[in-house]
Amino acid sequence: MKVKLQDGTEKHYRTVWMKESNVYMIDQRLLPHRFRILRCKTHLDTVEAIKNMAIRGAGAIGAAAGYAMCQAALEARDISNGQSRITESRDWFGHIIIAEKTIKKARPTAQNLFYAVDRVYKAMCGDQDLKRITEQAVKEAEAIADEDAASCKRIGELGNDLIRDGMRILTHCNAGWLAFVDYGSALSPIYAAKEAGKNVFVYADETRPRLQGANLTAWELLNEGIEHRVIPDNVAGALMKQGKIDMVIVGSDRIAANGDVANKIGTYTKAVLAKENSIPFYVAAPTSTIDPACKSGDLIPIEERNEDEVRWIAGVTKSGRRMEVRVTPEGSHALNIAFDVTPAELVAGIITETGIYKAEDIIHALE
Ligand code: MRU
Repeated sequence: MKVKLQDGTEKHYRTVWMKESNVYMIDQRLLPHRFRILRCKTHLDTVEAIKNMAIRGAGAIGAAAGYAMCQAALEARDISNGQSRITESRDWFGHIIIAEKTIKKARPTAQNLFYAVDRVYKAMCGDQDLKRITEQAVKEAEAIADEDAASCKRIGELGNDLIRDGMRILTHCNAGWLAFVDYGSALSPIYAAKEAGKNVFVYADETRPRLQGANLTAWELLNEGIEHRVIPDNVAGALMKQGKIDMVIVGSDRIAANGDVANKIGTYTKAVLAKENSIPFYVAAPTSTIDPACKSGDLIPIEERNEDEVRWIAGVTKSGRRMEVRVTPEGSHALNIAFDVTPAELVAGIITETGIYKAEDIIHALE
């Protein structure tokens, strides 16, 4: 999507891309206060960026992981030429195998990461020529990134049909273009509705502890000129009861075969509240988020992150200086579960690029 730069110009950016052996990404840890591009020179740099959430969001993580596999293939070429900067493995194939495992360990919940790594790995198999293997890897990783952007655009077109003029929509976390390669999932129908001339108003849950709603969704909505309010995570119930929310759209990190949906912690609470107040609760996700091997939501691996993400909060001072402050007593420990699972029966529909499905029928989206 377009980003307004400090010099007043506008430029189209994807969240992540690859040039030669480098992976570039918008550093999402610094938004909304600073727009910076991070360069990852090796597959391990890219893995670190996924882990520390310089890049985050299912589709963006997936594309970055695909590119990390290409970096591993390029590094393997150096190993086979005897010019290795990598010491982990003595042979090029061993290097790729270790890299594949390392990339898969970066974050456990987003299915798109495993989808991308498996696809690039498969594209590399069945050939012994390292030059060709590397070319195949790059071709596949670029295809994954392009498909992610195209799927999200289509999700916007299909989801737009669900949005009526004047609707007030609640979203949780950030499932906008920053969470994908472009366009986004939950925010894509909102962008399409705006483009179609509809008035839409968005309530963006701030989304503790990492504040993806306050930092990223608000930044996107502001850039796109969409009227919105950031709300503390515990406000939505009151607004629903007062009749101020017409619809909920959230993203997903992994969808089980039975239609249970993993998404950012706090999503389940909103789904229960939506049901209680008869408000449609939609999930938007590309089919690359569906895990057909995972029978139900109970089996989705849920990431637990460092407790300091809850204990400390980052922002800027009035003079614009970035600062981190602790919000808990020093001796208190915290629990930082990053995702929860919303059962299929609470979901009004799942918007994918192949159509809008009842959650329990989601497996048909892959046909
Ligand atoms: O921890 P994150 O920021 O990588 O979590 C992902 C999310 O932003 C949300 O869960 C999102 O709604 C789904 S990913 C498009």
